[in-house]
Amino acid sequence: MSGKKKVILDVDTGVDDALGILLATHSEDLDILGITTVSGNVPLQMATRNTLKVLQLVGKENAISVYPGAYAPLIREPVYEYRVHGDDGMGGALSDMIVTAEPAKQRAAAFIVDQVNRYPNEVTLIMTAPLTNLAEAMRLDPLLNQKVGRIVSMGGAVKEARGNITPEAEFNIYADPEAARKVYHSGMKLTMVGLDVTEKALLREKDIDRLKGTAYYDFVQTVTRDYLAFSERGTGVRACAMHDPLAVAVAVRSDLVRTEKHYVDVETSSTLCDGQTVCDFKGRFGKKPNVDVALEVDAGRFIELFLSTLRKSETTRL
Ligand code: RIB
Ligand code: CA
Repeated sequence: MSGKKKVILDVDTGVDDALGILLATHSEDLDILGITTVSGNVPLQMATRNTLKVLQLVGKENAISVYPGAYAPLIREPVYEYRVHGDDGMGGALSDMIVTAEPAKQRAAAFIVDQVNRYPNEVTLIMTAPLTNLAEAMRLDPLLNQKVGRIVSMGGAVKEARGNITPEAEFNIYADPEAARKVYHSGMKLTMVGLDVTEKALLREKDIDRLKGTAYYDFVQTVTRDYLAFSERGTGVRACAMHDPLAVAVAVRSDLVRTEKHYVDVETSSTLCDGQTVCDFKGRFGKKPNVDVALEVDAGRFIELFLSTLRKSETTRL
C-alpha cells in the first residue's frame, strides 16, 4: 500500500478506542499493520474481544489482525474504568455479536518489534492506551527507539487540563506510569495528544445525528450513550471527549493540533500525583525537550474529518 502511512494501533477498547478504530479503518491515508491490545479501560481479554468486534463491524476482521499484549502494567496492579466504558467496555454496543475471528498467536510486544524492524523509521505507533506494550517491546529490542518512526500517544495533561482519574493524572499515564516514563525517556519522536486538546475535541449528539444513513449510526449512538451521560454528570456538558480518535486523526493530519517542544517527565513516586505528566515550559530542569506537546486543536476541523471519513466510506460501500 504505497504512499499510505504504516501504523500500529495500540488500544484498550473502550468506547473512544472503538471510535478511533472506526476512524483509522476508514482513513485512506493509513496502512494498518495490526492492532495491539492491552489492559487498561478493561481487562486484556475484554479489550481484545471488543477490538475483534469493531473490526467485524467494519468488515476488516480478516484484513487486520489483533495482537494481545500485557495483562497488567509493568509493576502495578491494573486499574479499570468501567464507570466510563460500561461493564463490557463498549456501553453495551455489539453485545449480541458472535465474534468470528481469533486474536493472533503472536504477542503485542513481539509484533511491534517485528514490524518496526521490518520497516525501520517508517512505522507510526498510535498509542491510545497505557504504554505497557511499548515499554515491553523496548525491553525485547533495546535498539527499538532508533527504529520507530513516531509515536502519537493519547495521554497526559500539562496546562489547562487537570487529571481525569486523579486530580493530576490522565488515565493512560496513571494506569502504568513506569511504562510511560520509559517511553518518555526513550528519545523516540513523541507527539503527546493529551487532555489539553482531547477535552476540546467534543462529539455531540447533533454530530452523531449526521451519521444517519451510514452503517455506523446505530453503533455510534449505542456506544456513546452512557459515555455522554457520564460526561454530562461530570462536566455538565453532554458530549464525548474524543480522546483516542483525535490521536488517530493527528497521525493522519498533524496540523490539526499546534505543538510545542518541551521536556516532559512522568511522576512515579508520589502519594498524590503519581502518573502526572510534568511539562517544563520554562526549562527549569535545563533538559533537552523530548516531546512535541499538543496545546491547541482545531476541534471543528477534527469533528468534520471524523464524520466525513465515516460518511464518505459508507457511500463507497453502498
Ligand atoms: O484518558 C482517556 C484515555 O484513557 C483514553 O484512551 C481512554 O480510552 C482511556 O484509555
Ligand atoms: Ca483508550
